Amino acid sequence: MTRRLPLALAAIALALAVRADSGAEKPVARAHVTHAPAPERQTPGEARAKSDGCMSCHTATDRHTMHQNPAVQLGCTDCHGGDAAVEKPRGAERKDPAYEEALARSHVLPRYPLGWKWPSSANPEGSYTLLNREAPEYIRFINPGDLRVAREACGACHLPIIQASERSLMSTSAMLWGGAAYNNGILPYKRYILGEAYTREGIGATLVNPVKPTDFLVAKGILPSVTALPAWETIPPADVFRVFERGGRVISSLFPEIGLPNNTGILQRLDEPGRPDLKQSNRGPGTGSRIAVPVINITKTRLNDPHLWFLGTNEQPGDYRSSGCSACHTVYANDRDEKHSGVYAKYGHAGETATKDPTIPRGRSGHPIRHEFTRAIPSSQCMVCHMHQPNVFVNSYYGTIMWDYESDARTCGRRSRSTRAPTRRGRFSSAIPRRRRSAASGATRNS
Ligand code: HEC
Ligand code: HEC
Ligand code: HEC
Ligand code: HEC
Ligand code: HEC
Repeated sequence: MTRRLPLALAAIALALAVRADSGAEKPVARAHVTHAPAPERQTPGEARAKSDGCMSCHTATDRHTMHQNPAVQLGCTDCHGGDAAVEKPRGAERKDPAYEEALARSHVLPRYPLGWKWPSSANPEGSYTLLNREAPEYIRFINPGDLRVAREACGACHLPIIQASERSLMSTSAMLWGGAAYNNGILPYKRYILGEAYTREGIGATLVNPVKPTDFLVAKGILPSVTALPAWETIPPADVFRVFERGGRVISSLFPEIGLPNNTGILQRLDEPGRPDLKQSNRGPGTGSRIAVPVINITKTRLNDPHLWFLGTNEQPGDYRSSGCSACHTVYANDRDEKHSGVYAKYGHAGETATKDPTIPRGRSGHPIRHEFTRAIPSSQCMVCHMHQPNVFVNSYYGTIMWDYESDARTCGRRSRSTRAPTRRGRFSSAIPRRRRSAASGATRNS
């Protein structure tokens, strides 16, 4: 019994460590039907027919089309897809199987229900690249503003903005990858060739400039194209150390340990001339330590700083946001300080809803404040991304500075659901995400 306890504890720890993007989940096979794109024009009656069934459960919402302007005519399924003919069974409540069944028939269902914690509609924590594996129809259902599907949901009216948004640094991260690739000797070019973009199906894509850059444009830094980062396993180590090479005659039966190529401590045996006899792996590139460390690093940085192609990490105050157009235009409660979030400060910083829609549970993190687009985007919404250096650090405008990654931050990242403006001490503790401790209000002013 007593010997089992540590094991049981380990199992709990593992279970907690499994995040939304746990690659372990097998996809559920689904026959998704792609809903027609939202039309540029339609009559109010046509639009209403595409909302009827949805509104039998979503009886109220903040703005039916998300848009402020009532002249925009859209039904729910124009943006989200799904089946507006399904109605809530009369008198059924959320806990009833009949309700649940109607929900499942009207909604578009995910390939990865565990990853999304379906049927919960809250953005899950740490979904990382889950969007790339999910069906575009489901992505459109949960966020029609995602760049993989925005052409279908918004393209009839906003195509140039979609194209500009996809090519923006906030989607491609070209600056981080360009700088990191050159500075670490991955690529010999100062002019960037790498950039992040995906197809509708979530496959890495090359963005080609529709205008061939003239000499003048080249001088201004305009690029002809940017290409997705190749998979890290395919890139041989660029490092100059011989241990990263493959050996010759002397192949030990033991796999070399990370950082300790000669783990038995035996005398070096002579190998063929010119071959290293201490090595990081007996097998090919991408095994053991035979990896291109800087390439793996910039690949992972993308997951620390998911850009417009992905959801925010949705873990704690300062992390709540959606992807694509919604990343900026749909406001989440992230910051209780009026100087940072203006009129949204009163909604707290726990990413909770204040919608009129009765189906959305209160007091749960990972929801936009309202079903509404805004042009009055508060700084706090930009700061979800702009709070550390690969995303152009702009906390300096708040009067805060970089966290040095080394100072003790045990007390940071505590979550409180209070909507009161933070005290000076509270501000310090809420400004720092657990894993990405980058910026702390007053951290250095104190010391
Ligand atoms: C039978 C009731 C019911 C019907 C019909 C229904 N919904 Fe829902 N919907 C819900 C409930 C309940 C939730 C919230 C689930 C939760 O978070 O627990 C929800 C959540 C959602 C979400 C958030 C999903 C996510 O994972 O982010 C969207 C979008 C949505 N509904 C759109 C629609 C549309 C569009 C229709 C019509 C095609 C529709 N709903 C029809 C009950 C319904
Ligand atoms: C212009 C396109 C558009 C239309 C039309 C639209 N929505 Fe949405 N809706 C969105 C976007 C974008 C989001 C995602 C916002 C986010 O995740 O930040 C969303 C989110 C939602 C959510 C999840 C909210 C939450 O708190 O998690 C629900 C529920 C929903 N929509 C229901 C509806 C219903 C019901 C209708 C019709 C009355 C409708 N939507 C019409 C674009 C639209
Ligand atoms: C049927 C055409 C149409 C579709 C489809 C459409 N929009 Fe719009 N959108 C408009 C118009 C028109 C305006 C400008 C309204 C104004 O100037 O008052 C607008 C304005 C906006 C604004 C500015 C804020 C506001 O409410 O005025 C945002 C943000 C926006 N749209 C995002 C989106 C996104 C994201 C989608 C897809 C999920 C989308 N729109 C789909 C027509 C559309
Ligand atoms: C990085 C943040 C960000 C993203 C991502 C973003 N926008 Fe915007 N958008 C803004 C800002 C800021 C404004 C200007 C608001 C203002 O001052 O009027 C704006 C303005 C707009 C307007 C109003 C334009 C006008 O002429 O008044 C529309 C429409 C719009 N955005 C649609 C979109 C759509 C569609 C997408 C996704 C393809 C998108 N935006 C993505 C930040 C963003
Ligand atoms: C989804 C994350 C994200 C959000 C949200 C976001 N940004 Fe950015 N932004 C970035 C990244 C990433 C870069 C470029 C850094 C790089 O290339 O390494 C960037 C670059 C910029 C730049 C310089 C380059 C350019 O494209 O002009 C400006 C200006 C900027 N952001 C302003 C804003 C504003 C204003 C908002 C809020 C309305 C905002 N950002 C919201 C991630 C984001």
